[in-house]
Amino acid sequence: MVANTDGVEAAGEVNSLISNLLSLPHRRIMPIEMALVFDEIGKWSEIKLDIIEKYALPYSKILASRKNPEFHHVYIDAFAGSGTHISRTTRDPIRGSPQIALDIKPHFKEYYFIDTDGAKVAELNRLISDRPEAHVLQGDCNSILLTDVFPRVMYKDFRRGLCLLDPYGLDLDWKVIETAGQMKSIDMILNFPVMAMNRNVFWRNPEGVDPADILRMNTYWGDESWKKAAYRPTPNLFGEVKGIKGNNRTIALAFKKRLQDVAKFTYVSKPLPMRNSKSATIYYLFFATQQQIANNIITNIFKKYSG
Ligand SMILES: C[S@@+](CC[C@H](N)C(=O)[O-])C[C@H]1O[C@@H](n2cnc3c(N)ncnc32)[C@H](O)[C@@H]1O
Repeated sequence: MVANTDGVEAAGEVNSLISNLLSLPHRRIMPIEMALVFDEIGKWSEIKLDIIEKYALPYSKILASRKNPEFHHVYIDAFAGSGTHISRTTRDPIRGSPQIALDIKPHFKEYYFIDTDGAKVAELNRLISDRPEAHVLQGDCNSILLTDVFPRVMYKDFRRGLCLLDPYGLDLDWKVIETAGQMKSIDMILNFPVMAMNRNVFWRNPEGVDPADILRMNTYWGDESWKKAAYRPTPNLFGEVKGIKGNNRTIALAFKKRLQDVAKFTYVSKPLPMRNSKSATIYYLFFATQQQIANNIITNIFKKYSG
């Protein structure tokens, strides 16, 4: 399957990439079985990948230079993808987050890549074949992180981790975010999929929303308090109080507060909107950490992309 990463689940979508590859002779042709593993990504995802690289470079440099030889820094990519994408703008292959992380020098001491998709996992295994410090795990990252990966990044063991949580939609469980915050050893880059939330949950008439989507929203947010952020009670001319839908930024700022107050991250970035060509916000990127220096670095990086 080729997924279109507009921030919503894309299973079953027609692969425009394949038809373009077949119909336009001047374009770069790749075998169809390869194209099936790769996502076609928009400019905003390329910006996200730039940001990941710009942060992971100084992160690895600083952690690798620690004098204490017990220090061990780990890269965790929970919704990893295949490690390669196709740029929707240029049609060229570009590195996904796992490949970017593997290329960072100095290398991380360990890498964990998780994905549910068998074809992507096979491709990831190919990428790491000569990297014994890298591990690929297939399955739902919401359980694998808690049982197999986070226990290897404990603060008391001098371990530190950079964790990317980059779902297509509402596939993430708050327990993962909260655990990452409370461990104190993890810097987190998080995709807050506001477009998927708007499409599935934040409707003007909330009674019509599928209960399964409400459940998924509760799971991502951690409880039902998103309702307060998403719907502002407003009296109309007849004195009836109606819930008026809050704007994207208000909702993202309420989530920022949860990352600080509930997950206990000391520093949380301002949410950085990732917009499509029509200026609609597809998702917000958050960065959360316990370290002031990390916060300073990301603030400088985000500045370049905001506005
Ligand atoms: C947005 S893509 C990841 C892109 C990648 N982080 C990058 O920037 O190169 C999301 C990936 O998450 C995977 N996925 C979806 N649900 C998952 C889950 N519960 N656990 C692990 N992976 C999942 C999908 O197969 C897909 O490859």
